[in-house]
Amino acid sequence: MTTRADEQRVLDGVPTQLYIGGRWRDATGGATFAVEDPSTEQDLVHVADGTPEDAVAALDAAVAAQAAWQGTAPRERGEILRRAFEAMVARRDDLALLMTLEMGKSLAESRSEITYAAEFFRWFSEEAVRIGGRWMDSPAGDGRVLVMRQAVGPCVMVTPWNFPLAMGTRKIGPAVAAGCTMVMKPASSTPLSMLALVELLEEAGLPPGVLNLVTSSSSSAVVKPLIEDERTRKLTFTGSTEVGRSLMAQASDRLLRLSMELGGNAPFLVFDDADLDAAVDGAVIAKMRNMGESCVAANRFHVHESIADEFTARLGERLGALTVGRGTDDGVDVGPLVNAEQRDKVAELVDDAVGRGAKVVVGGERVDGPGYFYPPTVLGQVPADAAVLREEIFGPVAPVTTFDSEDEALAQANATEYGLVAYAYTQGLERAFRVIEGLQVGMVGLNKGTVSNPAGPFGGVKQSGFGREGGSEGIEEYLSPKYVALGL
Ligand code: SIN
Repeated sequence: MTTRADEQRVLDGVPTQLYIGGRWRDATGGATFAVEDPSTEQDLVHVADGTPEDAVAALDAAVAAQAAWQGTAPRERGEILRRAFEAMVARRDDLALLMTLEMGKSLAESRSEITYAAEFFRWFSEEAVRIGGRWMDSPAGDGRVLVMRQAVGPCVMVTPWNFPLAMGTRKIGPAVAAGCTMVMKPASSTPLSMLALVELLEEAGLPPGVLNLVTSSSSSAVVKPLIEDERTRKLTFTGSTEVGRSLMAQASDRLLRLSMELGGNAPFLVFDDADLDAAVDGAVIAKMRNMGESCVAANRFHVHESIADEFTARLGERLGALTVGRGTDDGVDVGPLVNAEQRDKVAELVDDAVGRGAKVVVGGERVDGPGYFYPPTVLGQVPADAAVLREEIFGPVAPVTTFDSEDEALAQANATEYGLVAYAYTQGLERAFRVIEGLQVGMVGLNKGTVSNPAGPFGGVKQSGFGREGGSEGIEEYLSPKYVALGL
């Protein structure tokens, strides 16, 4: 059980300044902004409100550190990540409490995120010493082909509020392993977890200037000068497709190297040959992990018409049994959404679906504040024109609709501009492969309600972006091949 004293202790312990060139300092002009607890709507703490000048100072530090950092032994870079992994595991409970306070999710969800986030450091500590190249005879016999892989250079990282640490560690981990320096801009609603992580990395031995942190109430004010600066070599962004498009447009003048992990609209397909118990278990995870505030959350459930009623009723029972409350309280499964805007958007999507004829199986009514609560909701018989089937919900709402053939299921699944992930439940091997191959996505959960794993390449196609985070592919985003034609 956590107490108010525990909450105050972790809040008192978190740094609140900018971290530039290995020094903690105030923003230019000394401005700060408040970080709110979404379960009480009260301010938790104020943090430095970085300016465009601070952002450029952070890039100056990253540029100054790049050559020496790139020359550091891979083993040393890997050991720093390994120490950071161990420190995160050791401090998991305090980091989780801090995360729950600023983001709202339950302590169990936050602990699971800390573990997930730390695993990216462990994974990339092992990748740091495996950066190779290749060597071959020129086919014409006129020399040799040598390919080496070098660090991209200073990277700008922009991370979202839904996974305040994991979305950072899966960028920082490979950048450290590859030998890139960084300027990190965390989401303004959840900067505290990243501030704590930067302090932890400093203690793990990350040299000054390698990772620089600029918190700011205005993302565009600090990110724009970084994109425009010719010393920046890469921008990596996790967030909405809309913001991703705008960043990409800004970056196009400089032909900046990009990784874009953007929005999703994940279909969850349940075929008539599925193991229904497993499908319901998977649906609960795919929908309710992170309270649905995830780009890989199942956004819409397409169920064979012969089993749709039973699936919907069973999902309703499971989601209706979850406890909503302040994430720090014992026994709470579902905390508040991150802010009023997010809660209102979720409520509007539900109201729209119900207005078009969807049936509320459970939930469906916003909860009185303070706090931005919305209950787990299952909607049955959702008509095809409901916005909830098209738009990313980012909340605990499960709309169920039906199909009557495999072709129709695939057509419904692919009828979206997004292509991040899809989930499919079937026990037929041949069907499984047809469906996997037919889905227009970057990731598939086959008889599994989660795909998130530091060993797998996370990323999408279509309007869900490009680039991969995690897996052996993840480090490639921070390396540039250099080809040498050898006249041997
Ligand atoms: C996201 O929601 O952006 C990523 C979720 C994950 O890595 O599982």
